[in-house]
Amino acid sequence: MKDENNLMEKIVSLCKRRGFIFPGSEIYGGLAGTWDYGPTGSLLKKNLKDLWWRETVQLRDDIVGVDAAIMMNPRAWEASGPTEAFVDPLIECKVCHQRFRADNEEEIKSHEKSHKGKKVEWTEPKRFNILVEAKLGVIEDQKSTIFLRGEITNGVQVNFKNVLDSTRVKIPFGIAQIGKAFRNEITPGNFTFRSREFEQMEVQYYIKPDEAEGQKWFEYWKKDRMDWYLSLGMKKGNLRFRDHTNDERAHYARLATDIEYNAPWGWNEFMGIHHRGDWDLRRHQEYSGTDMSYHDPQTGETFIPWDIETSAGVDRSLLFLLVDAYSEEDDRIVLKLDKRLAPYKIAVFPLLANKPELVEAARKIYDDLSPRFMVAWDDRGNIGKRYYAQDEIGTPYCVTFDFDSLEDKKVTVRDRDTMKQDRVAIGELASYLEKNLGK
Ligand code: GAP
Repeated sequence: MKDENNLMEKIVSLCKRRGFIFPGSEIYGGLAGTWDYGPTGSLLKKNLKDLWWRETVQLRDDIVGVDAAIMMNPRAWEASGPTEAFVDPLIECKVCHQRFRADNEEEIKSHEKSHKGKKVEWTEPKRFNILVEAKLGVIEDQKSTIFLRGEITNGVQVNFKNVLDSTRVKIPFGIAQIGKAFRNEITPGNFTFRSREFEQMEVQYYIKPDEAEGQKWFEYWKKDRMDWYLSLGMKKGNLRFRDHTNDERAHYARLATDIEYNAPWGWNEFMGIHHRGDWDLRRHQEYSGTDMSYHDPQTGETFIPWDIETSAGVDRSLLFLLVDAYSEEDDRIVLKLDKRLAPYKIAVFPLLANKPELVEAARKIYDDLSPRFMVAWDDRGNIGKRYYAQDEIGTPYCVTFDFDSLEDKKVTVRDRDTMKQDRVAIGELASYLEKNLGK
């Protein structure tokens, strides 16, 4: 645990203060387990998802993407076995009747403490389905009940045949997807870590049904995903793999490993790599009657492929990227986010807001840069306060138009990490920024 100086409290407060993340429906007292991303948070989240998509789909010729519906025919959930997959064992405190996940020792201990020495007795674990139900259509009966997806995986699996028939993919290949999932979590908590509505980024990677191939691709994806998070600048010492034991592996998984982060409350997972075998395709074939096999034109073999899945939480990745980037230096707080992730790449200021000649010239720079970069404008308070605010949201460069700029046609560019200031000719500003932002 590294929460000696209330790191989580500081992160939650920064997120609220600077527009990253707000409690869902806050003005109505909130809705437990839901969060709204604000102006900076939604940019950060979009940058994270765009980067993932670019590196997972755009830069690879073996992965294509889909964007499937959240609502699905209930038979799809029967096929993938939601009653097994999304059942959590719960125990109930006999003193206050609150329920907790039976496997969450930390919460159970902390709840016992909250009863201040009173002997707390627990019920035996009971199973509880955490899929969120919804009613679809105008007639409310048994048939109108559907489940919001508890994982985004099924939308990919049910389209396996469609993707095969409509693209040029051949095994091994992957189908990627980013989207929302919903779970009726019993104890949402640790900020966005355990929410009831969250987003996932997944690849289902289809391979030949062969033990050696399975092992090879499982190891490949473990390394690939870990390397991706390291490439975003996450500190190596804060990341680790954790293999699932036989008892904790999901019913579909032959092998499973989590990537965990050294969170302020202890190590916790934010993505998983699962060897799902042919579980999903075989079950969907059985329940839908659609042939889910793959014909290999080279070898003439026909088989149901195996699936190596990588499943990352968008919200958990974002939370841990924030925690990892947060730093306190002398008299400032700075988010040292990878520049590609930073909500705004540049902030433009006139030195003084009450000097029209400075404001007008700075505004022109803002207008010129905006089509190429996400740029913030700030003319409030003094320059020190503006730097402080941009450091807190991780803006890599601040550009100031001052009195000297009127004469020498240069602006001051200040670097977030080093705080070094460069004078740059206005005519060369865009290419200077492009180079330094790594475009
Ligand atoms: N398709 C496989 C699957 O859904 P999972 O381990 O249940 O596997 C994958 O979920 C990822 O989704 C987790 O590592 C986590 O990042 C994210 N996730 C799961 N439940 C979540 C929740 N309640 N709140 C936020 N993120 C969650």
